[in-house]
Amino acid sequence: MTKLWGGRFTKSAEKWVDEFGASIGFDQKLVYQDIQGSLAHVTMLKACQIISIEEADQIIAGLKTLKQKAEQGQLDYEVAQEDIHLNIEKQLIDEIGPVGGKLHTGRSRNDQVATDMHLYLKTETKEIMESIRALQEAIVLQAQQHVETLIPGYTHLQRAQPVSFAHHLLAYFWMLERDFGRLKDSLKRVNVSPLGAGALAGTTFPIDREMTAQLLGFEGIYENSLDAVSDRDFIIEFLAASSTLMMHLSRFCEELILWSSQEFQFIEMDDTFATGSSIMPQKKNPDMAELIRGKTGRVYGNLFALLTTLKGLPLAYNKDMQEDKEGMFDTVQTVKGSLQIFAGMIETMSVKEEKMNAAVSQDFSNATELADYLAIKGVPFRDAHEIVGRLVLTAIQKGVYLLDLSMDEYRQASSFFEEDIYEVLQPKTVVARRNSAGGTGFDQVQKALEKAKTIIHP
Ligand code: ARG
Repeated sequence: MTKLWGGRFTKSAEKWVDEFGASIGFDQKLVYQDIQGSLAHVTMLKACQIISIEEADQIIAGLKTLKQKAEQGQLDYEVAQEDIHLNIEKQLIDEIGPVGGKLHTGRSRNDQVATDMHLYLKTETKEIMESIRALQEAIVLQAQQHVETLIPGYTHLQRAQPVSFAHHLLAYFWMLERDFGRLKDSLKRVNVSPLGAGALAGTTFPIDREMTAQLLGFEGIYENSLDAVSDRDFIIEFLAASSTLMMHLSRFCEELILWSSQEFQFIEMDDTFATGSSIMPQKKNPDMAELIRGKTGRVYGNLFALLTTLKGLPLAYNKDMQEDKEGMFDTVQTVKGSLQIFAGMIETMSVKEEKMNAAVSQDFSNATELADYLAIKGVPFRDAHEIVGRLVLTAIQKGVYLLDLSMDEYRQASSFFEEDIYEVLQPKTVVARRNSAGGTGFDQVQKALEKAKTIIHP
């Protein structure tokens, strides 16, 4: 098989070695970006009179034919041509003859591959941002219906203070909002053109980098040719933002799984997102949530793989960098799939309000309220804490909750207690009164919901 770079070689290639070195098996995903990049490059070569108008037009027509063929699945890729760039160039030459060989004037595969990756990641990042919005929307829709549904709030997985279920769900809305922001910010660095950096040092041809950047919709160009072809920090940023996003999804999954358990029974997953057991007929497993939690690991892995690949590389391009692709493709697919499934799970899950509401009246999560009650009446908070602690102990010993203790028992603990404590101790009151900014008080939650809606529908 002839190589496009075969001139300097005396021995022909070995197939098994070619197979190890080739990236065509996975970088064929970049076919459209590669053709798009080439179209911009040849348009610029023409405008700058580096090749003739006729030659450029032939190349443009040839590239368009290849694009159509790609759309119809008619491009045959060869391992001998190593990667998508050489495969396309070879097919162009087969298609239009030796003039196709002029396409690569003033360009290298090094700036070419970097350009393709920037184009790819720009599109995919935007799509992932849209999927984040869709999940946020699903969260808001659920939250809206559960402002006054109460759920135990935990610290150390011990009942702490009751909260509005909407408030709990909205916590994830805001995490996702920061994930959205990180991806949006990363676009500034993705939206820069490496094209025209050449192999590493620029080129002797009078090219116009601003022009190709503009044709490809990039906002600017890399300032330094060595940097343009050798860094992959824009992918690392994407993988890091994706890892954080997956970490958030994974924590959410963990809660959905707990809440679906017999022990909690706070929600039930829709059948679509659950599976049964091959042996235990009663089972309904929250598989999709578990799988998203599990897939978080591979996204972290992709981030670490690329960081490690790059850490010892001297400038500029090294073949090691071909390893940047599979982890990125895998992450794109994993994140998109996870977000889509997640939105479905949230939209369709049924919330067992009675179970949640019942849970909050069967614990001591209103104890802080009682301490605050005394503190408002002038008892130093430390003393109030001690008094309520003793009341909790009394209740535990009697096998009851704070609302079950008598007025006499309260009076004995402190003369500041009055009849209104029975109202104060109601879980709904407990939640409603936490009206500090960002708190779980119903008014605050309503405000947060309004704000969330203006974010998704500006
Ligand atoms: N397949 C290569 C990659 O993915 C393209 C760039 C190759 N450049 C080179 N000089 N070998 O990184």
